[in-house]
Amino acid sequence: MKILITGTAGFIGFHAARHFLDKGWEVFGVDNFSSYYSVGLKRDREKILRGRPGYRSEELDICDHEKLQSVFAEEKPEVVLHLAAQPGVRYSISHPFEYERSNISGTLNVLECCRHSGKKPKLVFASSSSVYGGNTKMPFEETDRLDTPVSLYAATKRAGELMAYTYSHLYKMQITGLRFFTVYGDWYRPDMALHLFADAMLHDRPIKVFNNGDMLRDFTYVDDIIDGVYRVVMADDLPLFDIYNIGNHRSEKLLGVIETLARTLGVTPKMEMLPMQAGDIYATYASVEKLHKAVGYEPRTSIQEGIPVFADWFRKYYKL
Ligand SMILES: NC(=O)c1ccc[n+]([C@@H]2O[C@H](COP(=O)([O-])OP(=O)(O)OC[C@H]3O[C@@H](n4cnc5c(N)ncnc54)[C@H](O)[C@@H]3O)[C@@H](O)[C@H]2O)c1
Repeated sequence: MKILITGTAGFIGFHAARHFLDKGWEVFGVDNFSSYYSVGLKRDREKILRGRPGYRSEELDICDHEKLQSVFAEEKPEVVLHLAAQPGVRYSISHPFEYERSNISGTLNVLECCRHSGKKPKLVFASSSSVYGGNTKMPFEETDRLDTPVSLYAATKRAGELMAYTYSHLYKMQITGLRFFTVYGDWYRPDMALHLFADAMLHDRPIKVFNNGDMLRDFTYVDDIIDGVYRVVMADDLPLFDIYNIGNHRSEKLLGVIETLARTLGVTPKMEMLPMQAGDIYATYASVEKLHKAVGYEPRTSIQEGIPVFADWFRKYYKL
């Protein structure tokens, strides 16, 4: 079986590619190595993938319709896992057009390529817990209303879901959307909270704690995410189109997470308490019942188990 994964030099794409290779799949990766965060880290991930038999890739932008179409024509993947995106809630305040380009035009391009690909591959794509926006009902369920996105990032991820529905409806394409909830693990993204916290802690700088630490996040360990993605790809009885939450089903207090990380790193953190940032949400908490019923998804990793894996990798990779 062959899978085409967009965003393979990224955090989740890298882990997904490794998992599919472990399972004996052929993986074709595409990524534009965007400079949103360290291109060196992306190249290091790609180097590891390139060393694996069964992995091939091309550096390309998913917005380049002709190039992407020729990849689809040549590779004829059975499955497409679409992860490439401009991520980050806060950056979308200052760089809105990056989100419109990669998350809307890029996703539309992926949909078009799937539509015109002879065998119409099964498509699984990444959405985000951020689509729940101002929702205050906990835990977040797939049936909740989704018309209050509080960042442009969230609005573009929701737009991706809606476009995917339309394509599935019009062209009878098998499409599944997965709303990821705050993913962490080794080979993590340097713009995300645990990295920023660990980096500040190990350099004896105060960490920036927004909303005075009064925030709740459903932290999902990357291996649990990949297990869910794999189960969805392998399932052959899912509805033609559906969307599922994929989280840890535990909403952690931010201060508790900081404490666990500090204990793991053996430091006493200095904290700079700040107000809530524009675009942020107070709490995320995933109901995962729907995905459990559909494919048996069951997150297994607590932050007490996952944070030490991240911290160990962080120290080794950054030599700290
Ligand atoms: N990490 C999380 O906590 C989280 C949470 C919710 C949703 N998501 C979603 O999961 C997916 C993967 O996220 P991630 O954390 O691995 O992010 P990432 O930034 O590490 O990976 C995304 C990859 O896509 C590539 N990319 C961006 N724009 C592109 C374009 N136009 N053409 C080709 N490649 C492009 C980037 O270079 C990057 O390597 C994204 O769709 C993101 O929105 C992630």
